[in-house]
Amino acid sequence: MKPDDLGVSKPLVFPLYQTAVFTLPDLDALDRIYDEGAPGYIYGRDAHPNAEVLAAEIARLESARWAVVCGSGMSAVTAAVLACVQSGDRILASNRLYGRTLTLLFQELSRFGVEASLVDVCDQDSVARTLERPTRLLIVETLSNPLLRVADVPALAQLCHRHGCRLLVDNTFATPELFRPLEHGADLVVESLTKLMAGHSDVTLGVVCGNDDLEQTLRQTVSIWGLMGGPFECWLAQRGLATLSLRCRTACANAAALADWLAEQPGVLRVVYPGRSEHPDHALTKRLLHGQFGNMLCFELDGGREAVNRFLRRAVGIPFSPSLGHTGTTVSHPATTSHRYVSPAERRRQGIGDGLLRLSVGFEPLEQITAALKVGLDLETSRTTPQEAEPSA
Ligand SMILES: Cc1ncc(COP(=O)(O)O)c(C=O)c1O
Repeated sequence: MKPDDLGVSKPLVFPLYQTAVFTLPDLDALDRIYDEGAPGYIYGRDAHPNAEVLAAEIARLESARWAVVCGSGMSAVTAAVLACVQSGDRILASNRLYGRTLTLLFQELSRFGVEASLVDVCDQDSVARTLERPTRLLIVETLSNPLLRVADVPALAQLCHRHGCRLLVDNTFATPELFRPLEHGADLVVESLTKLMAGHSDVTLGVVCGNDDLEQTLRQTVSIWGLMGGPFECWLAQRGLATLSLRCRTACANAAALADWLAEQPGVLRVVYPGRSEHPDHALTKRLLHGQFGNMLCFELDGGREAVNRFLRRAVGIPFSPSLGHTGTTVSHPATTSHRYVSPAERRRQGIGDGLLRLSVGFEPLEQITAALKVGLDLETSRTTPQEAEPSA
């Protein structure tokens, strides 16, 4: 029996095609793939089966006609922007975007003659005024990092389309489980799959999804700029995606309970969570996010950096890890991680102080998280001291 002859059997799980290149029987077969779009693969940087299967699954989740997998969330943002703009074009960006996206726009693309301006997307009058100048693309995040302001995607899409501008939504914090921007008028969606989508912190990947005619341009951009994700990453992400709904539902329920719990604890100055009535976008979130409020929350400790360091050293059950969407709860410190290179004045303007912590809530039992938080907040002593819990050198 040949190793690839499975007889009548088929694998239940889509196999990993860990190959960089494919073989073809002759030139005619090659031409049919290149020129007529016949099924088949040639070179992994252009397309490969694991990326295609993953993309099809994400397109279904995002209500998209097409999706293209990229090697990271940043390569997805890069591909989406490059596919839309030419030198001389103008991009409008939310002033609450992920720091690296802002760097891409203001330091990298500016070198190629693409102009970028910032706007407060929570102020629609200001967006409308800014769109009076010809603009190719508006970029927003569904839930902003870290203070979870919510973009009114349907209203922004209307404004953009009135001015002949495309709306690109980074849906990383929401995932299609909470919100599907294309159903609300967005033109393009990007996700960092590294986070909740793949969900196990062992994959770096991204995706661009859309319904319009940009698919071929995007595929070409991904191939030429070398932005494709590898087969094993795609295979892992597909496995993670199968449990997205279950993971997300439990993590969101945990986050909602923790937000209320944290707000009652001594030493906590404020809690930022769109599920709480004092959040400025509480009503909008209720309307847009199908009654869910996400798995991310922030809380501010009394005592600034010192208080944060004390918390991080004590709360050994909640790893300090500058990412999000892991299986278990992790904590990050926006002022020194995601917003490290944002000016102190801008951080102050946004409300990102030295005492602010961002929690990515996981789907472990709620009591386990509150127990770890109590130790971190010095409300209870740990059964293991921080020193004992540290890995031996
Ligand atoms: C909202 C958002 N978009 C994009 C990215 C970039 O994703 P990646 O790290 O997979 O490149 C991140 C990373 O943290 C993010 O938070």
